[in-house]
Formats: sequence, C-alpha cells, structure tokens
Amino acid sequence: MPKQGDVTRRLLWIAGPLAVVAAFAFVMTAPTSKALATQQTAAVDTAYEAPEITDTASLAGPRQPIFFRHDVHAGQYQIDCQYCHVNVEVSAKPGIPTVSSCLNCHLIVGTGIAEVDSVRAYERDGRPIEWVEVHDLAQFVHFPHQVHVNAEEEFEVVCEDCHGQVDRMAQIYQFAPLKMGWCLDCHKQKSEEFGKPVSTDCSVCHY
Ligand code: HEC
Ligand code: HEC
Ligand code: HEC
Ligand code: HEC
Ligand code: HEC
Repeated sequence: MPKQGDVTRRLLWIAGPLAVVAAFAFVMTAPTSKALATQQTAAVDTAYEAPEITDTASLAGPRQPIFFRHDVHAGQYQIDCQYCHVNVEVSAKPGIPTVSSCLNCHLIVGTGIAEVDSVRAYERDGRPIEWVEVHDLAQFVHFPHQVHVNAEEEFEVVCEDCHGQVDRMAQIYQFAPLKMGWCLDCHKQKSEEFGKPVSTDCSVCHY
C-alpha cells in the first residue's frame, strides 16, 4: 500500500491540470448566455494550431506593448470575439478588454510564459496596458460600429468583411482601406444583393 504522502502527491498531480481545465471551461462559459450559445454552436476547429513565431519584426501592424495573439486566443483556443469585445453589439466604439479580464484566465493559464508574467505585472501594479490603436477613422466620419455588427442576420455582414481573418493573425493590422469608396461600395452592393436600401446619403456618415 502506498504511503499517505504519495497518494496526496499523486492526487495533486492529477487534480492540478484538471483544475486548470475546469477553471478554463468555467471562465469560457461564464460571461453571457448569448456568448455561451454561440460557443456551443461554433464549429470547433481542433485542427488549427497557432504557429511558433520567432521573427516578430516582420509581422504586419503596429507592435503592441504585450505580444497579444489573436491566432492563439480566437484561433487555436476558439475564444469568441464577443467574450473580449463585449460591447461590439451596443457601442459605436467597441473597446479593448481590461487587464483584469485577462486575469480571468491568466491567474492560472500560461504560467511559465514570460509574456503572461508581464500581463500579471500590469495587474499587480494597477497599470493599464497602453494598446496602440490599429484603426482610427477621421473625426469627421460617423461610423456606428454596432449597426454593422447587428446587420449580420439581415445583410450578412461579419467581422471578417472589415477586419480580415483575425483568428489567424499573430499581430493585428488594418485589413480594409477604410476610405469613403470602400464604405460606399459595400452599402451599394448590400442594397442590390438584399433588395433593401442601405443609405449612401452624405449626412449619415458626415454630420
Ligand atoms: C482574449 C481576448 C480577445 C479575443 C477573444 C479577441 N480579441 Fe480582439 N483584441 C483583444 C485585445 C487585447 C486587443 C488590443 C491588442 C491588439 O491590438 O492586439 C484586440 C484588438 C482587436 C482589434 C484592433 C482594435 C484597434 O486597435 O483598432 C480588432 C479589429 C479585433 N481585436 C477584432 C477581434 C475579432 C474579430 C475577434 C474574434 C475573431 C477578436 N478580436 C477576439 C482581445 C481579444
Ligand atoms: C462594416 C465594417 C466592420 C465590421 C463588420 C466590424 N468592424 Fe470592427 N471596426 C470597423 C471600423 C471602421 C473600426 C474603426 C472605428 C473608428 O476608428 O472609429 C473598427 C474598430 C474595431 C475595434 C476597435 C475598437 C476601439 O474601441 O478602438 C474592435 C475591437 C473591433 N472593431 C472589433 C470588431 C468585431 C469583434 C467585429 C465582429 C463582431 C467587428 N469589429 C465588425 C469596422 C467593422
Ligand atoms: C478565456 C481565457 C483567456 C483570456 C480571457 C485571455 N487569455 Fe491569453 N491565453 C489563453 C490561453 C489558453 C493561452 C495559451 C496558453 C499556453 O499556451 O499555455 C493564452 C496565451 C497567452 C499569451 C502567450 C501567447 C503565446 O505566445 O503563446 C499571452 C501573452 C496572453 N495570452 C495574453 C493575454 C492578454 C493580454 C489577455 C487579455 C486581453 C488574455 N491573454 C486573455 C487564454 C486566455
Ligand atoms: C461590409 C459592408 C459594409 C461596409 C464596409 C460599411 N458598411 Fe455601413 N452599413 C452596412 C449595412 C449593411 C448597413 C445597414 C444596416 C441596417 O440597416 O441594419 C450599414 C449602415 C451604416 C450606417 C447607418 C445608416 C443609416 O441609415 O442610419 C452608417 C452611418 C454607416 N453604415 C457608415 C459606414 C461607414 C462610415 C463605413 C466605412 C468606414 C461603412 N459604413 C462601411 C454595411 C457596410
Ligand atoms: C457610408 C459612409 C459615407 C458616406 C455616405 C459619405 N462619406 Fe464622405 N467619407 C467617408 C469616409 C470614411 C471618409 C474618410 C476617408 C479617409 O479618411 O480617407 C470620407 C471623407 C470625405 C471627405 C474628405 C475628403 C476625402 O476624400 O478624404 C469629403 C469632402 C467627403 N467625405 C464628402 C462626402 C459627400 C459630399 C458625401 C455625399 C455625396 C459623402 N462624403 C458621403 C464616408 C462616407
């Protein structure tokens, strides 16, 4: 019969990783029932593994204070865009998640990864991560982000149309030109395709 200490150690050895998996599953499903529903219906891309990257200097897009990888989070681990960008459906500017929301997972997940330790240091010091803005429309343009996200069902507008395949990006970059012609082209095309008007009046975008 094994000694008491051995059994405890063996149990801890098994329970440790299980606790991590359980905690991960919990935070993944915690936010909203809607996110949960999309999570359950999403096709799980178990085949995708984010590549190892050694040459970060050659990546498109601005370098960020933390090397945050969408291909790891949204690609390999299938975390829903809405889990982090909670306001995309309701706000003109959807926003970037706070450091504390990273710690929902990274209190446990990613121990031993130096970049994750840096994230914990920000939280410990109560400092925000000063992300570099990738998209920045001119001030005189009115872009209601939420109207577009909510147009998914009626007009089949999806994140990828405007942001590209974010779940394969190691570092995020501006995918679309964001010029006036680009906005108008889609508005006209959607009107034709779905037989419902999408405004091209100057005043909806400029006021
Ligand atoms: C685990 C959290 C998380 C998930 C999941 C996530 N994002 Fe992000 N996203 C961030 C953070 C943090 C930033 C800011 C850092 C950066 O730009 O890489 C960001 C930045 C962005 C930006 C650029 C914002 C700017 O500065 O203009 C876009 C666009 C974006 N995310 C789209 C998406 C899409 C689309 C998905 C789903 C495929 C997604 N994100 C999933 C956390 C997340
Ligand atoms: C019709 C095009 C379009 C669609 C669809 C779209 N976006 Fe955006 N997104 C933009 C533009 C344009 C900006 C820049 C807005 C600005 O600078 O005011 C932006 C900005 C963002 C930002 C930066 C927010 C900030 O506060 O700085 C995030 C994050 C983002 N989008 C995520 C998403 C996600 C997630 C989806 C899908 C659920 C999505 N977007 C769908 C065009 C789009
Ligand atoms: C829902 C859970 C979850 C959330 C929320 C989350 N992450 Fe992660 N993150 C993960 C997982 C899982 C990994 C992979 C860990 C591993 O490889 O051991 C990871 C990996 C990382 C890595 C290392 C990537 C690499 O190079 O392999 C960094 C850096 C990181 N996350 C930063 C962040 C930041 C910053 C936030 C908040 C904006 C965040 N994470 C939010 C689950 C999450
Ligand atoms: C991928 C397609 C697509 C792109 C690109 C796009 N839009 Fe739209 N936009 C739509 C659709 C579809 C609607 C109508 C949504 C609805 O009525 O439910 C819409 C609606 C709008 C509205 C509201 C119109 C109203 O009648 O109130 C504004 C404002 C707007 N878009 C501005 C912009 C701007 C500014 C850009 C470029 C930076 C842009 N859009 C790029 C598809 C797009
Ligand atoms: C669907 C949205 C949308 C509509 C409708 C729209 N614009 Fe624009 N407009 C934009 C965007 C986005 C820019 C910014 C382009 C940039 O930053 O390069 C812009 C830029 C401009 C500029 C600055 C010069 C330039 O080309 O960069 C002028 C002037 C202008 N628009 C006038 C108009 C007039 C006049 C109308 C009506 C005939 C109109 N716009 C309709 C989205 C729109």
